[in-house]
Amino acid sequence: MTFEEQLLKMREDWDARARENARHYVQTAQTEWSDDEFFESGERTVREQILNDMINVCQGKDPREMRVLEIGCGAGRVTRALAGQFGEVHAVDVSGEMIALAMHALRDVPNAILYQNNGADLRVIPDGKVFDFAFSTIVFQHIPSYEVIENYVHEVARLLRPGALFKFQVQGDSSIATSPNDTWLGVPFSDEQAVEMAERCGFEPRYRHGQGQQYFWLWYFKRA
Ligand SMILES: C[S@@+](CC[C@H](N)C(=O)[O-])C[C@H]1O[C@@H](n2cnc3c(N)ncnc32)[C@H](O)[C@@H]1O
Repeated sequence: MTFEEQLLKMREDWDARARENARHYVQTAQTEWSDDEFFESGERTVREQILNDMINVCQGKDPREMRVLEIGCGAGRVTRALAGQFGEVHAVDVSGEMIALAMHALRDVPNAILYQNNGADLRVIPDGKVFDFAFSTIVFQHIPSYEVIENYVHEVARLLRPGALFKFQVQGDSSIATSPNDTWLGVPFSDEQAVEMAERCGFEPRYRHGQGQQYFWLWYFKRA
């Protein structure tokens, strides 16, 4: 399977999931989600991963003055909550169907800007935008390619200001059996792999949490 074929497969599979039951595939905790429940679950993610970590996230900046990047925004669950805290949120997703749902759900949220991307890079973000924080959750755990994930990490390094944080989650359970054309089970990372990827991409992997588990969280700080 070529790189391009893999990107196409991710787009087609996530478009199909979005058409079938987007909110369930975005957050499998429930089959049916009301609007309130779905967006409250995004608020919870932001409370649990960001608002309790503002020293690392903001580094003294006023959140209202910050520009934030989200990779894999799905139907806008977390994006909406991010836009409630930060000045500007730019969010990408490989699935046009997911982006259409997010655009509809966030039509009254002018500081959330959504883009469909190619599944591997951030060239859709307009030139000259510099970001103060980047975030991604339950996205890389679905990507069946180290090359694609590392490409994103390089791209985030390109767009973040020096010193800023990219906080994201990868699959840490190495017992997961993956296959290049399975877009549900992403490639797992050991602690050593996570450290090496940071170094190759210009980040300091200052904190890691959840090694060996599905929710392996990484705090990458962009080196000056
Ligand atoms: C489980 S959903 C999570 C969505 C969102 N992060 C949330 O927590 O609500 C995974 C999302 O990642 C997107 N995705 C999967 N592979 C991607 C890729 N290679 N590039 C960008 N988005 C991708 C899917 O289209 C889907 O919307």
